[in-house]
Amino acid sequence: MNKRAKVFAHRGVSGHFPENTMAAFQAALEAGADGIELDVQMAKDGTLVIIHDEKVDRTTGGTGYIKDMTLEEILQLDAGSWFAEVNAGETIPDLEKFLKWAAMEGNELLINIELKNDLIVYPGMEKKVIDLILKYGLEQRVIISSFNAESLRRVRDYHSTIQTGYLIEGIPENTLDMAKKIGADSIHCEERFALSELGRRAMEAGFPLRVYTVNDETRSESLTNAGVEVIMTDFPERFLK
Ligand code: G3P
Ligand code: MG
Repeated sequence: MNKRAKVFAHRGVSGHFPENTMAAFQAALEAGADGIELDVQMAKDGTLVIIHDEKVDRTTGGTGYIKDMTLEEILQLDAGSWFAEVNAGETIPDLEKFLKWAAMEGNELLINIELKNDLIVYPGMEKKVIDLILKYGLEQRVIISSFNAESLRRVRDYHSTIQTGYLIEGIPENTLDMAKKIGADSIHCEERFALSELGRRAMEAGFPLRVYTVNDETRSESLTNAGVEVIMTDFPERFLK
């Protein structure tokens, strides 16, 4: 029998808390999740901040691109009210704040840092992320992923062992070749890839599969049977029962 797939809280426990906030991350720790997935963009002053979209419009009261705002400006934004009034006052965390929290005693969560650099070029982002991970001694607990293959190759050039996950959508034919070429350790994919012939070949070739974003817990058994390593979900409690 296959081992239960690990459960990662996607953007934190984003089904019940505003995504990518400390409230959503704290809830993941309390729920007993195995890990957290989060998204990183880079501010005008070079600070790495945790937010999914390139713009702040959807998840805050503000408007505009992260790349055009300083951390000071970003910290003024309310990242909770859009989700529920009770979450008013949540802020966009910077990556360092999160890593400091993750490095605290009692916190053993795995951390999947997704670099959101597929639409906007953030020069030097990879080095900044890795330096912060090393500063907090978290290199054994972190997986860096991105849809941007070139960026993952830069991660590998800068650090030879930190884990990387090649993010794909759908079932691209060249997935295995690309993952090998950029020195990725794993493939982060959708359910349809994980259950495909290509997905099976990827696992056989030694690439663990981490699947996003599965919220229907009845899918757990077939994904576990297929041998996926991680299920990313907005509702970790459904898969941890
Ligand atoms: O990292 C997995 C998943 O989060 C990728 O898609 O758009 O939710 O960041 P997205
Ligand atoms: Mg993501």
